[in-house]
Amino acid sequence: MLTANSLTIWQFVSSLPGVLLGRRHQRLALQRELASLFNVSPFRIELFDSGRAAFAALLAAHGVQDGDEVIVPAFTCVVVPNQVPPSGARVRFVDISRDGLNFDWLTLEAAISRRTRVVVVPHNFGVACEVPTWLREKHRQVRFIDDAAHGFASQCEGQWLGSYHDGAFFSFEYSKNLSGGIGGFALLPEGMLPPQRELPEVSCLDQWRLLATLKAHLYSARWPLLGRITMAVVRRLGLVYRSSDAEVVDGAPHPARALPLVSAVLLRRQLANLPAVLRHKQRLAARYQTALAALPQIRHWPASPDTHWVRYPFALPYRVTDKAALARRLSAACGLNIGVWFDDVIHPAGSFRHCYESGDARNAEKLAATIFNLPMNIAVAADATLDKKLIKLVQALDSYLKENA
Ligand SMILES: Cc1ncc(COP(=O)(O)O)c(C=O)c1O
Repeated sequence: MLTANSLTIWQFVSSLPGVLLGRRHQRLALQRELASLFNVSPFRIELFDSGRAAFAALLAAHGVQDGDEVIVPAFTCVVVPNQVPPSGARVRFVDISRDGLNFDWLTLEAAISRRTRVVVVPHNFGVACEVPTWLREKHRQVRFIDDAAHGFASQCEGQWLGSYHDGAFFSFEYSKNLSGGIGGFALLPEGMLPPQRELPEVSCLDQWRLLATLKAHLYSARWPLLGRITMAVVRRLGLVYRSSDAEVVDGAPHPARALPLVSAVLLRRQLANLPAVLRHKQRLAARYQTALAALPQIRHWPASPDTHWVRYPFALPYRVTDKAALARRLSAACGLNIGVWFDDVIHPAGSFRHCYESGDARNAEKLAATIFNLPMNIAVAADATLDKKLIKLVQALDSYLKENA
C-alpha cells in the first residue's frame, strides 16, 4: 500500500529539527495554520492523535448519550463505529448508494428514526458531498458529522469539506492526504466550546516507532525493494506502529491522546506545500480518468477538480474472489501500486462487525468486492512514463475481463 501521499523524503528529514521548538509551539502553530486554511477561528480546531479520537470528541460535544442512535455508513473503517458504544448510543449501519461512494439521501432519510442523534456523513476517497437542505430541515434533531478522514482539503461547490455541517473529523494517519504517521483533528461547528482537558501524550518510544514506520512507507513509495527491506527490519525490531488488534479485531474504542510532536512538525511542512500537492494530484487524477475511460466496463467516479483524492478508485463489473491476488497481478503488469481499499463493508476484512449482518448493505458489499484504487502520491510523476504504465494497466484489466467474461 502506497502511503505518505504528500510527504517527500527531504521534507521528512529537514522538518525534524523543528521538534526542538517543543510541542506547545508546534501544536499551536499547526492549529493556527489549519484555522487559516479553513478560514475559521483557531478555537474550532482540536488536535488529536487520530481521526477516531476527534470523532469521539464530537460525539461527546453533541451530547450523544444512552438510548441515542448513531448512523454510520456501511462502507467505513472499523475504528469509526468503535467510538460509538462508549457514548451509550447504538450504531446503525446504512448502505451507500448503488452507483456512488457515499450515501443515497433517500435511503438515509428512510433510515433516520426518532432516536437518531448523529449521522456520520462519508466522503469516501475524498469525494465531498453535502446533505441536502430538505433533509437537514426535516430532521432538525440530527447532527451531521463529516467523516473527512479521506478528504482533507477537498471542496464541495467552493466550500471546504468539514466546514458546512455540524463538525468534522480528519485523519493524518500514514495513508491519508497529509501524513503525520498518526494524527487527526476535529473541526468544531461554530459556537461549540472546545473540550477543556489535558490529553495524555504519545510516548517518546512510540514517536520513534512512528518515524521508523513512516520512513519505511516513504521508501516503499520510491524504491519498493528498499521499502520492503526497511519494513521487514522495522517489523523485526518491533518498531511498527499501527492500530492495535484490540481495536481492529475486538472493536475496542480508542483512548484519545494528544497529537505527537513529530506528527505536528511533519504536518506543518506538508501544509506549507499544499497548493503544489493539490495541483500535482489533480494532474494524476486527470490521467487516471483518461486512461480508465478506454474501458467502459470499468466504473470510476470522475469528480470535480476540487477533490483531494486519497487514492483514485475504480471498480470491476463483477465480484472478484481474491482481490489481493488481482491487485498483485495488476501491479506487476503495470508497475503502479494497485490498492484494495475498502476490502470489506467494515474495513479491514476480518475486523469487528458491531451489529452488521451479512446482506444488510448490498451496495456496499458489492463495492467492497469490486473496488481497487490507484495511488495519489507525489512520488508518482504525472508524465509520459505514467501514461505508459496506464496503458499496461488497461491492457491487464482488459485481458482479465476477457478471461472472466
Ligand atoms: C473512512 C475513515 N474514517 C476514519 C478513519 C480513522 O482515522 P484515524 O486512523 O486517524 O483514526 C479512517 C482510517 O483510518 C477511515 O478510513
